[in-house]
Amino acid sequence: MAEVRLRAYRPDDAAVVHAVVTEAFGDQGDTVAALAEDLRATHAKAELVAEVDQRVVGHVLLSRSWVDARQALVEVLVLSPLSVAPAHQGRGVGSELVGAAITAARELGAPAVFLEGSPDYYSRRGFEPATLRNFTRPSVRIPEPAFQVVVLDGHEEWMTGALVYCEPFWTHDCAGLRDPELSRIEQMFED
Ligand SMILES: CC(C)(COP(=O)(O)OP(=O)(O)OC[C@H]1O[C@@H](n2cnc3c(N)ncnc32)[C@H](O)[C@@H]1OP(=O)(O)O)[C@@H](O)C(=O)NCCC(=O)NCCS
Repeated sequence: MAEVRLRAYRPDDAAVVHAVVTEAFGDQGDTVAALAEDLRATHAKAELVAEVDQRVVGHVLLSRSWVDARQALVEVLVLSPLSVAPAHQGRGVGSELVGAAITAARELGAPAVFLEGSPDYYSRRGFEPATLRNFTRPSVRIPEPAFQVVVLDGHEEWMTGALVYCEPFWTHDCAGLRDPELSRIEQMFED
């Protein structure tokens, strides 16, 4: 299998990253690519690409949001979006991007990294349900099991409360799910 190389995003990656995100997210591709571009321009703290044979096939972005703790607003990171070109999925590229994003978050001294996603996929990559740590969701349209966190060394006991997403998640309507997909996923978690 070809070797995967991870590196920091560069401005000349913009077009290929747009293509990878659009392809990975299918029907939602244009919306998620626009979210990534807006986050990059406003709230990004780290952005990585994965290359196979010197071609970009994966991408991940970490942006800043906040936990609204009783004592103070706490800057935290949100891992979103994560994309692997369909032809390269299922070969560990996504896992490498998640691992590198957590390493980057640790190096940035972030107290926690949040995301919305499959608990099956992310629990095997270091995440746990954020509600177990007393964090609350930025929207009730995020099914509870999908609201996940990795707590890092910078975290202190008092840093708990509601996750508040930065503005691009709202302007692109990318916080949580909407019906009928929301009902379908909630039903899946109940079964
Ligand atoms: C989610 C995503 C980033 C995973 O990337 P990936 O490179 O396929 O991930 P990996 O190869 O590291 O792991 C794939 C996992 O899916 C399973 N898998 C197998 N074949 C697969 C395939 N064709 N497509 C996706 N996943 C597959 C593997 O069993 C593995 O699960 P496990 O290791 O937990 O048992 C990628 O599928 C993707 O871009 N999906 C569309 C966008 C998306 O949903 N992003 C995440 C939003 S939270």
